[in-house]
Amino acid sequence: MSFREHIEKMPNLVRIKKKVSTNLEASAVINELADKPVLFENIKESEFKVCANIFPTKQSVADYLGCKVDELIPTLTKAIENPTKPKIVEKAPCQEVEMKEIDLDKIPILFHLKKDGGKFITSGVVIAKHPKYGQNLDFHRSMQIAKNKFSIRIVKNRHFDTFLNEQKKMPMAICIGNGAEVLNAAATSVEIGQNELEIANTLKPIRVVKAKTFDAYIPADCEFVLEGTIDLEELADEGPFVDLTETQDIIRQQPVFTVTKITHRKDAIWQALLPGKLEHKILMGMPREPTIFKKVNEAGVKCLDVNVNPGGCSWLHARVQIDKQTDEDGKKAIEAAFEGHKSCKHVFIVDKDIDIYNDQEVEWAMATRFQAHKRIVIHEKEKGSSLDPSAKSETHYTTKAGFDLTAKLHTEGKNFSKAEFPKANLEDYLE
Ligand SMILES: Cc1cc2nc3c(=O)[nH]c(=O)nc-3n(C[C@H](O)[C@H](O)[C@H](O)COP(=O)(O)O)c2cc1C
Repeated sequence: MSFREHIEKMPNLVRIKKKVSTNLEASAVINELADKPVLFENIKESEFKVCANIFPTKQSVADYLGCKVDELIPTLTKAIENPTKPKIVEKAPCQEVEMKEIDLDKIPILFHLKKDGGKFITSGVVIAKHPKYGQNLDFHRSMQIAKNKFSIRIVKNRHFDTFLNEQKKMPMAICIGNGAEVLNAAATSVEIGQNELEIANTLKPIRVVKAKTFDAYIPADCEFVLEGTIDLEELADEGPFVDLTETQDIIRQQPVFTVTKITHRKDAIWQALLPGKLEHKILMGMPREPTIFKKVNEAGVKCLDVNVNPGGCSWLHARVQIDKQTDEDGKKAIEAAFEGHKSCKHVFIVDKDIDIYNDQEVEWAMATRFQAHKRIVIHEKEKGSSLDPSAKSETHYTTKAGFDLTAKLHTEGKNFSKAEFPKANLEDYLE
């Protein structure tokens, strides 16, 4: 089932027939709908439809991948460890129509928030190639600066940045309108040289096709493909932009992507992603959970579950549930979690009786099982996330902290378990 077939079949899909503008109006409606998927059928500035909120919860991703929510970490882990080759096709839906002229104003790119620097592509999967490493997939928010140009946000020292620094000028494609297998594969951080399309294919079989202007494979069933060249020497302002933390990121000079070819499906659907909201958070945080899970287990601590939770912007905080065997397990798990997600700022380790999806339970563990002078691990002046407004602007230096909220194994007379209250069936008492 392709992405568009999936949208059409969603039982809770909200169809909006009224004419809606890409300028602040669509983003307002997406925000109000929160976790409900939406299809705008009539866009004021464009002939194309726009969809959003397609994968705003773990449940929606699990439904698409055909697994249960508690199987997501093993499913993602299996895909990262067992990449498989997608089927190659000669003719692809994403190349059905080739636009005669390059005019980005014909595409429904959204202007999300009034203080943003422009219209941004936020859901696009970027595909680039390197002579030694092969293909890379990732995301780069792209601000439209002309009818054929974007300035592209490139975080330093990630694979795309390495590709561009070594090649100076390189072809790339932005693919829009993808299912959860391609989106989540692109959002993982794996070894350089690992083609994330092969991770996507293990999550759910996909088809790929050769790009039109360079020797790379792209998802055949996506909705739009923007191909062109990015040049390290051509720079332009990028931003301001409200990102994952729902705070405004600064204006930076960033490389320009010049679009030379646009292809799309007949009656293509544009995939929007509202920055900072649920769908963005799931896509950022969820692919970090398997990497944390793996590192904690490798450190010899039995990890049961990980939640890179929305309260921590689905990026800066991780809650890790362990089956504690020794008094050192908490601190070992903290160090391992930081290894598994380098941008994480605060890690919370809890016992198996604490529900890591329940804020009150995690706070209860902190209130009853934690002593700051003994159970806190502080990493001062470490490189953190470029998204953290409280980190130093240029270097991203930050103070990381790990909180061991697990109960002591030897309780010295005290009890750290939640008491069991007597149960009653209220129907027997209320009339
Ligand atoms: C929705 C979304 C938006 C992102 N936006 C950017 C961005 O604008 N610039 C950037 O460098 N990384 C961005 N990222 C993170 C990159 O995709 C991240 O570097 C990638 O997942 C790791 O890939 P790599 O290991 O190949 O470097 C974004 C990730 C997601 C999920």
